[in-house]
Amino acid sequence: MKAALLFRLLDPVSEAVARQLARPRGWFGRTVMTRVLNRGNRDLVEATLDGLPLGPETRLLDVGFGGGLLLDLSRRRGVRRLAGVDPSVDAVAFLRGRAARWRGAEVRLEVGAVERLPFADRAFDLVATTNTVYFWPDLERAFGELRRVVAPGGRLTVGYTGAAKLRAFGQVTRHGFSFHEDAASRSAAERAGFAAIEVAELHGPVTEGDRVLRGRA
Ligand SMILES: C[S@@+](CC[C@H](N)C(=O)[O-])C[C@H]1O[C@@H](n2cnc3c(N)ncnc32)[C@H](O)[C@@H]1O
Repeated sequence: MKAALLFRLLDPVSEAVARQLARPRGWFGRTVMTRVLNRGNRDLVEATLDGLPLGPETRLLDVGFGGGLLLDLSRRRGVRRLAGVDPSVDAVAFLRGRAARWRGAEVRLEVGAVERLPFADRAFDLVATTNTVYFWPDLERAFGELRRVVAPGGRLTVGYTGAAKLRAFGQVTRHGFSFHEDAASRSAAERAGFAAIEVAELHGPVTEGDRVLRGRA
């Protein structure tokens, strides 16, 4: 079923769904929402990682990891030094449980948000985030924090649903979502000090209308 149609079916409970997307919480957030996110966002998460050089020495941070799929897929692609941050205490508790079984990987998971990342300057070679830009309270500050934690020569990769597609999602995205046009995200990333910024439009059956923004520190 097309995502836009599915979202429209959720119109009667749109506010509750939007709250869970913005911050999974409680029993539902921990046990249902985390799994829904991992399933529904898989194609975009894969595209956000595709083509990047990943290996055992890559220090990777996922900002707003939700169900943790990007960290898990990175691990399956050979990354051993994984970190994640999410403001949802329930998402962090869920993934700490799962990550305890990720043998051979060094994993650090923290409660926190993009506007104040609990990590040292230049701590990562790759900073990734998917489906979180809509919830950032301040685009400039967010990109500034992402830039701060990337090491020189490191990379940023941001997967998100484009503004036009978000608008077609009906009532759900009317509650607390910010619709950023590509040009606004690109220029905020540039002003934060990222170089070689590219925004790729995705055209998969699920990802049509989605984007991946990449930049270099
Ligand atoms: C729609 S979910 C996406 C989860 C996952 N990245 C994915 O693509 O499946 C949004 C996630 O962003 C997190 N989030 C919300 N506000 C945030 C912020 N200001 N900084 C970082 N993460 C945030 C939420 O807690 C939630 O886990």
